[in-house]
Amino acid sequence: MTDQPVTEPQDRREEEQERGLSQRIGVRQDAVAGAPAVDGPAGGPRGPHEAIFGLEEVQVSYGPKPAVRGVNFDIGKNEITALIGPSGCGKSTLIRCLNRMNDLIPTARVEGKVLYHGQDLYGAGVDAVEVRKRIGMVFQKPNPFPKSIYDNIAFGPRVLGMKGDMDEIVEHALKQGAVWDEVKDRLKTNAFGMSGGQQQRLCIARCLAVSPDVILMDEPCSALDPISTGKIEDLMMELKQDFSIVIVTHNMQQAARVSDKTAFFTVELDDEEHRSGRVVEFDDTEKIFTNPGDPRTEAYVTGKVG
Ligand SMILES: Nc1ncnc2c1ncn2[C@@H]1O[C@H](COP(=O)(O)OP(=O)(O)OP(=O)(O)O)[C@@H](O)[C@H]1O
Ligand SMILES: [Mg+2]
Repeated sequence: MTDQPVTEPQDRREEEQERGLSQRIGVRQDAVAGAPAVDGPAGGPRGPHEAIFGLEEVQVSYGPKPAVRGVNFDIGKNEITALIGPSGCGKSTLIRCLNRMNDLIPTARVEGKVLYHGQDLYGAGVDAVEVRKRIGMVFQKPNPFPKSIYDNIAFGPRVLGMKGDMDEIVEHALKQGAVWDEVKDRLKTNAFGMSGGQQQRLCIARCLAVSPDVILMDEPCSALDPISTGKIEDLMMELKQDFSIVIVTHNMQQAARVSDKTAFFTVELDDEEHRSGRVVEFDDTEKIFTNPGDPRTEAYVTGKVG
């Protein structure tokens, strides 16, 4: 094949990355390469797609009472899964569980099972830092490092000691992040000189530079104008060919436009008036937005409450 030399270094990098974490967290190679759907808690498959994550009775607390509880659904490979629901229902709390970002909050306690490629993400011997390389995160506010555009991208690969031509790695990531054409002539300038939308695509590219498996996005467009938002949405549709994406959004049109599956959360009050988040419904996005099974979902997605 004539294009082999072009794609090979990247493929090799990805394989090395894959093997590295797989060995450390004990992920089976066949699971990474495309195994059948992970069984659900009751033993039956929970969907037609291979599951990247399986959530079983997940509960997260910041003190004695849970902030979100009873979460059970699978997150599919090469799909976009949207988490929606009113403020305070635990969307950020849950998404942070998926790459162990909650470990950084001293009071946070995660119970239940978070399975990643069928392996317990919180199991003994799993390296949380390694997990965060495989499962990248993009935040509400773009957070480039106070460095050049080039160094923002090269930072992760350098820390990881990734082999290959750094210029190629940087170019590839910026192209994947759909920001290359806008910055290729000013790679050595400070990233703070970019627009907010460009900075957010830089942050996505920074995630991609270390060849992750999953990209978590917590309201990635809430600080952006509609044009930048459209660019990020187009980018997400491209990226799901190669990655799995979980997005938290308050923008119902965005969830309906980009996601394959949607989980709708709500806040419930217990007898002692403690508020905690619950999943009301998890289903194909089309169903959630056109024919939801629960009246609370319908009220929320049609904007009657929120
Ligand atoms: N670091 C923290 N320490 C203590 N409590 C927290 C912390 N982070 C979140 N909480 C609480 O957990 C609950 C869920 O918050 P979370 O931020 O996950 O909600 P959210 O659905 O992302 O809301 P929003 O849509 O406003 O971003 C809230 O009651 C919140 O006060
Ligand atoms: Mg949030």
